[in-house]
Amino acid sequence: MLIDVKQITKAFKNDDSWLFPTYQQVLNGVSITIHEGECVGIVGESGSGKSTLGKVILGLEAADSGEVVLGAAIANLPTHRAISVVFQDYNTSVNPRLTIREIINEPLISEALTHQAREALLVNLLEEVGLDTEMLDRYPHQLSGGQLQRVCIARAVAPNPKFILLDEAVSSLDVSVQVQILDLLQKLKQERGISYLFITHDIAVASFLCDRLMFFKGGEIVECVDDMRNLKTVSDPYTKELLEAAGYLEIPFETELNQA
Ligand SMILES: Nc1ncnc2c1ncn2[C@@H]1O[C@H](COP(=O)(O)OP(=O)(O)OP(=O)(O)O)[C@@H](O)[C@H]1O
Ligand SMILES: [Mg+2]
Repeated sequence: MLIDVKQITKAFKNDDSWLFPTYQQVLNGVSITIHEGECVGIVGESGSGKSTLGKVILGLEAADSGEVVLGAAIANLPTHRAISVVFQDYNTSVNPRLTIREIINEPLISEALTHQAREALLVNLLEEVGLDTEMLDRYPHQLSGGQLQRVCIARAVAPNPKFILLDEAVSSLDVSVQVQILDLLQKLKQERGISYLFITHDIAVASFLCDRLMFFKGGEIVECVDDMRNLKTVSDPYTKELLEAAGYLEIPFETELNQA
């Protein structure tokens, strides 16, 4: 076990009354176990609590009850070596005044590296995410969205983390760039054995990258798909609806099996 999320609950206070405030229950006892080297997807509609769960795992939000237990492989690592994160909005995830070199170097600042070793590492990271090394001296506004998201991935990978939380990390990119980034994430997962928690509203994207999917509604997991071949045989009505809307339930399961 790498990360064990146990019975997390979280409510936010509404702004209605300072005297008798009401609360919005956003997470209702969520439990997820993420093992080493696997990619777990969280799929659900907007407002279902996916990002809040991510923030609780990262320690950016405190849960009302429940706990996040880190496994032995990461419990003793410094935080930046254990967990990295890539958000949807690459523009606000980077400081526009820093060069790409400085941005990717951010998580490496405390590492004792010679100038040459650091430069070699940065060049290597940039190559790994498929960007030209001449980009190191550029500023964020001189890159396209897809290129900048690659920079964010390079920065996330830089400290060689065991686990990366990706919250809608490809959602604002066009489809061809999405495919490139998903291929890149797949490659990094295979080569470095990184585990991902992949948060998205897009089933197609999730089913491409993830080993397991959890469907999320109203702050609860309503369906788990542990084997992606069983994606079309889910029982939960909401999950069926999502799959239907994404065109997954149009082809009868048998037919596709026969083609495979
Ligand atoms: N800091 C906060 N204070 C108050 N309410 C919040 C806060 N963060 C989130 N919420 C509320 O919690 C609910 C869940 O939000 P969350 O961002 O987790 O949803 P999500 O599943 O990530 O949605 P999306 O797919 O749109 O990103 C929303 O109703 C949101 O308004
Ligand atoms: Mg979100």
